Amino acid sequence: KRIVILISGRGSNMEAIVRARAAEQWPAEIAAVISNRPDAAGLAFAQSHGIATAVVDHKAFGPGQPGREAFDAELQRVIDGFAPDLVVLAGFMRILTPGFTAHYAECMLNIHPSLLPAFTGLHTHKRAIEMGCKFSGATVHFVTAELDHGAIVAQAVVPVQPGDDEASLSARVLKLEHRMYPSAVRWFVEGQLAIENGVVRQLAGE
Ligand code: GRF
Repeated sequence: KRIVILISGRGSNMEAIVRARAAEQWPAEIAAVISNRPDAAGLAFAQSHGIATAVVDHKAFGPGQPGREAFDAELQRVIDGFAPDLVVLAGFMRILTPGFTAHYAECMLNIHPSLLPAFTGLHTHKRAIEMGCKFSGATVHFVTAELDHGAIVAQAVVPVQPGDDEASLSARVLKLEHRMYPSAVRWFVEGQLAIENGVVRQLAGE
């Protein structure tokens, strides 16, 4: 199986997936890491591990919906040049057009730092703290046209502790992300994930 990972910045989830694939010798290769930002820190890590990288800079495309469509079309062209079986969004901070998400239906995963369906969108940790939530966590899901709404693959939970701020809570959740996202990607490449009636059913592993 061929995996393309999309990032926008730090890329610590991408790094966790690259390391897990190598350590556990999945039946998969990381075909490329693609960023919409030329200065994404994660690109250097990918290059130093011999992984092909590409940049599709969203700023090079026009404003508004036409710009979004043009960006997604170019991104799709670049992704498909690597012939992936799976596209992994790892801190990829772009809203995607319905045509793009349809093209990768049931073969694109995202990780979101909340317990979906709570707190879609941005600033999840701040909002969880402000709501007085006692638990938060992260969700891996298939990507659909509606932001942070696709079929849920995996969730993991952390306590929100008294005195937590955005930084301390996000650090606790991120640790969890680095364990759960590689597992979920591995399930996909091993053919363990089936979607039935919009819900993921996990088939038995080997
Ligand atoms: C993670 O918290 C992820 O859940 C969210 O953006 C952050 C990306 O971090 N979508 P990194 O780039 O993987 O380090």
